This record gives sequence, structure tokens and C-alpha cells, in this order.
Amino acid sequence: MISQRVKELLADMSLEEKLGQMIQLQARYFCEEDTSELTGPGQKLEFVNEQIKYMGSVLNSKTAKQNITIQTQQMEKQPHHIPMLIMGDVIHGHATIFPIPLAIGATFNTEACKMACEISALECAVSGVHLTFSPMADLVRDSRWGRVMESYGEDPFLNSQMVKAAVEGYQGDSIKDFGKIASCVKHFAAYGASEAGREYNSVDMSEGTLREYYLPAYKCAVENGVKMVMTAFNIVDRVPMVANRHLLQDILYNEWKFKGVVISDFAAVYETIVHGYSKDRKQAAERAINAGCDIEMMSDTYLNYAEELISEGRVSIEQIDHAVGKILMLKEELGLFENPYKDASELNEKKYLLCDAHKKIARKISDQSIVLLENDGILPLKKDGLKIGIVGPFATSKHVFGAWAKENNQSVSLMEGINNVAPNNKTVAIINDELEARLTGFIDIKDSIHKDLETIKDCDVIIVAVGEHEKDSGEAASKVNLRLSENQEKLVYEAYKLEKPVIMVLFSGRPMEIGHLLPFTNAVLQGWFLGNEMGNALADVIFGDYNPSARLPITYPRSVGQLPLYYNAYNTGRPDLESNEKHMSKYIDCASTPLYPFGYGLSYSRFEYDNLRVVIEDDKIIAEIDVENKSGIKGKETVQCYVRDISGSVVRPVAELKAFQQIELNPYEKVSCKFLLTKEMLKFHNDQLEWVFESGEYEIMIGCNSSQTTKAKVIL
Ligand code: GLC
Repeated sequence: MISQRVKELLADMSLEEKLGQMIQLQARYFCEEDTSELTGPGQKLEFVNEQIKYMGSVLNSKTAKQNITIQTQQMEKQPHHIPMLIMGDVIHGHATIFPIPLAIGATFNTEACKMACEISALECAVSGVHLTFSPMADLVRDSRWGRVMESYGEDPFLNSQMVKAAVEGYQGDSIKDFGKIASCVKHFAAYGASEAGREYNSVDMSEGTLREYYLPAYKCAVENGVKMVMTAFNIVDRVPMVANRHLLQDILYNEWKFKGVVISDFAAVYETIVHGYSKDRKQAAERAINAGCDIEMMSDTYLNYAEELISEGRVSIEQIDHAVGKILMLKEELGLFENPYKDASELNEKKYLLCDAHKKIARKISDQSIVLLENDGILPLKKDGLKIGIVGPFATSKHVFGAWAKENNQSVSLMEGINNVAPNNKTVAIINDELEARLTGFIDIKDSIHKDLETIKDCDVIIVAVGEHEKDSGEAASKVNLRLSENQEKLVYEAYKLEKPVIMVLFSGRPMEIGHLLPFTNAVLQGWFLGNEMGNALADVIFGDYNPSARLPITYPRSVGQLPLYYNAYNTGRPDLESNEKHMSKYIDCASTPLYPFGYGLSYSRFEYDNLRVVIEDDKIIAEIDVENKSGIKGKETVQCYVRDISGSVVRPVAELKAFQQIELNPYEKVSCKFLLTKEMLKFHNDQLEWVFESGEYEIMIGCNSSQTTKAKVIL
């Protein structure tokens, strides 16, 4: 439904003006002083400067000063003085940087996700940004893919819950409100399934699998009012997503009733030629417009060929008006026609960006993101009387923001965090040269390890801070090897030889291959990249100020050779039950189970589950279980409820997360957790791709992770 204002504009705008609204260019085309990085391959665009005044939106201009300038200049030149839409990648923070989305997923706390997005929205709104290209709803099962850091992991339910929280956090009740922005869910669809984890690679799967696993989180974003959808670079079923009529027209627009704007990813319209789908720019424009892509990001086919396509009847002016109408309606919903600068304010930037209140919240969320993978009891450490050796390239590094974050000078290193939280201990850092990124010529840590470690053999405990460079994670950062560098592994072995407890802390945007290092450690923390407060949060956990509660949102493989590896798999006809039977679905050189399963994480408390009760009431499954804290330490447990549909009109996953509850238990406290499962929650796409519930036998599995559950069967 378009407003009178938009109707009148459409009636009065020239075709060139309309096509300009359907183009998005990087900030450098509007402002010579812009310093933002190109987020895609630089290529020569074919338009003349005279046409710049028609452009309708700008990519990644992120300061109030620059955005006020760009908006003022553009509106003066634009024939109808239509305001620009200022969009950007605010993925896990604008100025205050929060944990990477994968680490937010590990919190299993949607309120934490929402809070991080609320603060990100406020900070970028006062910098003049109107829309963020977030959340990324791509389901990921293969950690070779660098953008796994940008996802919430491998589970459709957890992804959907986090995506919903993110959209709510960014958009609030109205995107016109102060400190609220529009949200764009990406990358539609299934970019996380790039074959072999190789960036931008092909995606090919059945529609059943697509709908069962990969589409739910995007659908959840649409159901929760997301204002924009970005198409993925990849093909699905042999058609590039930006021109994929089945997924865009049949599913997104017609089945899901999406009324918002669709934008391409960076140059993806042009790249349909490279894919071998469009024969030239003209056909690229035709196919993307006809599929329903409203804005072409950083390529120029619409501007240069739409008029010809219209004259040839290959595209209609009604399609152009429909797309431009949606774009103008989004600007109207943001209030840009009344106030084109919205919340942009240099004064408010000083007030809100990286303020203490935001950093305090970032620390609390970071605390909840750290996964305790191993602990022989060495953790938590005492806060006094210890001499702690901190070794490795992340011992004193402040480059702990992760991909998609503009680094600031206020991050807290591990060493600083330890000194902040436990100043009465002594700390010494050695072998702490920074890693170099592989893209700029990887340099491993120096190999003077043995000699250097001798200097700290009087320490009581050694913390080994190792991982991957933050630039070796994120977009265009796929890897075939998930191990630490050779000398970082040597550092672990050599530290162990000091015969002192070794605590390994992993700084990474993905699960790493660490199984072979475990015998040389006493405790392992998955630290991810947490942003500003990383050092403080790690210290909060190391010294027990925060009892670790995070759970893995993605499977941790024993070997990269197992990937893709995920908990909610189909059973096969010969599942590996770790028997000696030869003819089973397994490897002969590696166990088929993960190192750590989805949902796994340790605590300083000890939780025990007992007395699972499952009944059917009014066509619903009521499941209850007792959870007891068997320790003297208060802690938070994430009670996970999985379901298995034993048989169906198609094979069904061996487990599906359907609900989770986070409970705080005092020492020796016992509570009963109750889950309600409805037939609606058990629906799936059957062999005819109909969304149905099928009666039959179900197994209810409740526990602390996807592999450790108490089970009960019911007939529904
Ligand atoms: C990049 C990414 C996308 C991002 C866009 C704009 O290539 O794929 O996630 O939002 O370009 O920077």
C-alpha cells in the first residue's frame, strides 16, 4: 500500500530518476574523503557523473558528519529532492564492538542478542545510518567457510530465535523512532552451504533440505517485520539467487507475503554474467528485475539497460514503479521526507558511541559467549598469590574485534583483563608477537619458544593465547586447514613440558582443529572474537567472576575432513554406533562423532538431570525433567529440548532442537523444567513439500547438549 506522497512522486519522476532509486553505490562515489573499504571486487561502473544525482542509496558511509554532507548535497541535486537511504554493514556493533554473531549464538540468550542490536542501532543511527545489512540468517555446517563467524550456527531453531531478536533490537516498534534503524536479513538463500566451505561457491540441494534447514531463519525475519532482504551471491538449483524467480517470487513474495525491498549483494546482478547465466548486462538487468530484485548494489545494469528493456516490453514500467514505490515507502517509514538526517548528530555521537554504559553491557554479553570446553579443575584460578605466564600471539593483542568491525583503540587485551580482574596476581607475557594475516603474508610466531619459556618456568600456571588472525575469518576467508599454525601448536607442547597447568584460550571466528592438543592442556576456553571487552570477559571467566554458561552453536569437529558435520543429520541406513561392525557409515581413520557436539559447554557448577516425565495432554506433549545443581557454585544451565520424529513420509533428522530454557540454580538447588510441544512445532515439509504434522512415534530428548540427553518415546 503506497502513500499519496509516493503516488505523486512516481507520477512525476522521470524514468532516469526512478532507475537511480534502484542503484546503490559505495560512499566514495558521493564523497571523495570517504575512507570506507570496498566490500567487493572493484570494477568499472558505466555511468557518468551527471547521473550521480539520481542515485537513491549509499553503502557504508558511517559518520554523522559525512552522512549529513552527503544527504545535503544529494537532495539539492536530486530533481525531486528525494532523500538518500544510508545503509551499512553494522554486523556486531558500530563503535562499541560486541562478540561476533557466532559467539552471540553461543550465549543461547536472545535478550543478549537483542540488547547488542539495540545498542548497535542507537550508535549507528546517531552516525546517520538508516539501515544495517544484518542479521545474517545463513545456516552454517562447515567451518571452513570464513563467514561462519557471521552466522548464529547450524541449527534452524536457534538461528530463528537469534534472527528474531536481532530484527526486534534494530527496528524496535517503529524504525522512525530515535535510535532505531531498518534491518536487512541476508543472504537469501543458503549462502552458508557453499560447497566445500569455499567462499562464493555453488549451492545445490533439494528443496526439501532447503526448506527443512536453510529457509526457516529468513522466514522468521520476514514474519517479524524485517524491512529488507539481501540476495546471496550463490546459485540455488543452478540459478543465481539475485535472478532466482522461484525463491524470490514463489517463496519470498508469494508464499511468505514479503512486502519489503530486495537488494542484491555487491555486484551480484552483473555477476550473473560471470556465473554463465546472463549473456550480457542487458539480460542481467532483465532477469534480476523480473525476479524481483529492487536495488542493484554496486553494478550498473539497471541504469543502463532498463529503458531499452521497457521499450522492448521485456520489463514493464509497472515493475519499475512497484520497486521504486517500495523503496520510497521505506524512506517514508523512516521519516526521511520529514527529517532526511534522522538521528545523525555529531553531539550524540560523542554521547553514545563507545560510552561506558555500552562497554559494560558488551562485557556482560561477552562473558556469556565464552565456551568452557575442557577443565580438569584448574579453573577458576585464585585472584591472588599466583604468578601467571601468558604466552602466545593473543596474550597482549588488542586485535580481538573479528571481521566486519571497525577497530577502535579501546579494546582490552587478555593480559590487561587479567590484571584488571586479579591485580594481586603477578603476570608476565612472552612470545606475544602478533600473528600476520594470511592475506598479507602469514608470519608464524618466532621459534625461540623453548628458550623463551625457560624464563617463566617459575610461574604457577601458563595461559596459552592462540588462534587465527581476525582477518583470516569472515568474508573471503575460507580455509582448508583449521589447525593452529605450526609454532602455535609447538607453543602448547612446550608449555606443557614446563610441568605447570596449561590453560589454552582460543581466539577464532570458527571451531578450530584442536583434539590433538588436548592431552597437553588442563583447560580450554573458546574465546571467539569478542570485541572491546574480550580481555575483561575472559578474565571474568578465568577467575570465576562469571561462571561460564555458553554452549556451542555449531559442531566442533575432530578433523576438518569430517566437514560438513552437524547434529541434526539424517540417520542413514547404517549409522555408526561406534560398534566394530565394518559396514557402517564411518571413516576408517577418524571417529565419526564430533570433538564437541552442538549445544555443548561446561560450567564450574555440576548439573544433573533426572526423572524425565512425558505425557500427552490435549494433543500436546508435556515434558518435564528435574535439573539439580550438584555443586556449591551458583550457575546458569541451558536446558535443551530435542525431538526425533522416528519415521515419516521422508527421512527425519535424528534430533531437532525445539526449545531451550536458561535457568539459574543456586548451590544444590533442584528445579523442574517444563516444555510444551505442539503439533505445529512438529510440522515439516513432507514428500510433497506440504507443511504437515504426521502422527506417529516421537522421541523426546532433554539434556545439556545434543548428545547428552534423557529420552522418552510417545505416540502423537
Ligand atoms: C559484501 C557482503 C554483504 C555485505 C555487502 C555490502 O560482499 O557479502 O554481506 O552486506 O557486500 O558491504
